[in-house]
Amino acid sequence: MSHLSPLLVQSSGICAERGEGSWLYDKDGNRWLDFTSGIGVTATGHCHPRVVAAAQEQVAKLVHAQYATVSHPNMLALTDRLYEHLPDGLDAVAFSNSGSESVEAAIRLARQTTGRTNLIAFRGGFHGRTLGAASLTTSTSKVRTGWQPLMAGVSIAPFPHAYRYRQDMAPCVDDCLHELDHIFATECNPADTAAIIIEPVQGEYGYYPADAAFMQGLRERCDKHGILLIADEIQAGYGRTGKFWSHEHFGARPDIIITAKGLASGYPLSAIAASKELMSHGYPGSQGGTYGANAVACAAALATLDVIEDEQLVNRADKLGKELLAHLQGLQQEHDCIDDIRGMGLMLGLEIVSAPHQPDGERAAKLLKHCEANGLLMLRCGSNGQVVRWLPPLTVSEAEIEQAVDLFATALKET
Ligand SMILES: Cc1ncc(COP(=O)(O)O)c(C=O)c1O
Repeated sequence: MSHLSPLLVQSSGICAERGEGSWLYDKDGNRWLDFTSGIGVTATGHCHPRVVAAAQEQVAKLVHAQYATVSHPNMLALTDRLYEHLPDGLDAVAFSNSGSESVEAAIRLARQTTGRTNLIAFRGGFHGRTLGAASLTTSTSKVRTGWQPLMAGVSIAPFPHAYRYRQDMAPCVDDCLHELDHIFATECNPADTAAIIIEPVQGEYGYYPADAAFMQGLRERCDKHGILLIADEIQAGYGRTGKFWSHEHFGARPDIIITAKGLASGYPLSAIAASKELMSHGYPGSQGGTYGANAVACAAALATLDVIEDEQLVNRADKLGKELLAHLQGLQQEHDCIDDIRGMGLMLGLEIVSAPHQPDGERAAKLLKHCEANGLLMLRCGSNGQVVRWLPPLTVSEAEIEQAVDLFATALKET
């Protein structure tokens, strides 16, 4: 009998015992093609041999080199390796264990360095479950329910959800930037605003990419008013969208980047990156914790970067993402219930509807149950659970993509 808290809601009935590449296995040898990647974490696939070897070697050497007490080589090497992938000028990295913790670290840094209180986040954004991160989150009210009031000083601005607003992208961007200026004029004076935080490709709300004109509009406003631009790259970063960082698609450089998920192939590790200059204006000792930059997690992160570079996973995400998109567009031609396909690279979402623009979370749930019964593990997202997300490891093969599309096509026919 299990004594697991009933408040942990699991989306499948699978008890996974083992993972290998794109596959998860239970103790009876049943297997599922895992197109969730543990919510975008196992970008190198389950138990990539090079990540396993690096972690095993480190476990036998040193596990907990408490980073506020001592330094350790893996942590230092990881800052150097990350630096090679960071935009010019972002030359300092601080580690934590989870995405939410790094969001909190970014909030602290922004408030301490600007001396300002307010933050602007975007409708539909997901930034985590801790108090500060949840206060920035509006992808679903589930995260905010029953424990309000949350952190003060947050304004929510519209994100260019062109599909949802039934607009083309250009007028939608104009409207959203206009509304942001209105927020500055009416509720959140730029002089009080520490940072604007954005997922350049929104995840949990339903795989909505931002737009170059929008991101550049944010950059201009940040430059004009001395506001910091924070890119939450936790789900869309680390190669998933076909560029190393998702903001690179949009030509707007952030002042702070937050990363986690794909960073260490499943070991709990997250980070924020900013300029040393910016970090030097924060409060000494404000970054730290008990478990941050765990030596095994850092070893796994270094091996993850080796795999990403040597197997050219960023290019793979771009190439295979285009192939997957073509398959999904083929399904859309045949099935009216697929109203929209959004996303970039190997981060794609299908909007499931009962009629145009009528989100159908129940149908999406049924589809996923049928997929699970036939050996394909998928996840939903979106405010009504109406978006089926395609989030395979970046190591997925073309044959596995075709197999997953076939299994999903069967589920479409069965439901
Ligand atoms: C964009 C984004 N930010 C923050 C988080 C929170 O990360 P964690 O669950 O590791 O706290 C997530 C998790 O899904 C995410 O997708």
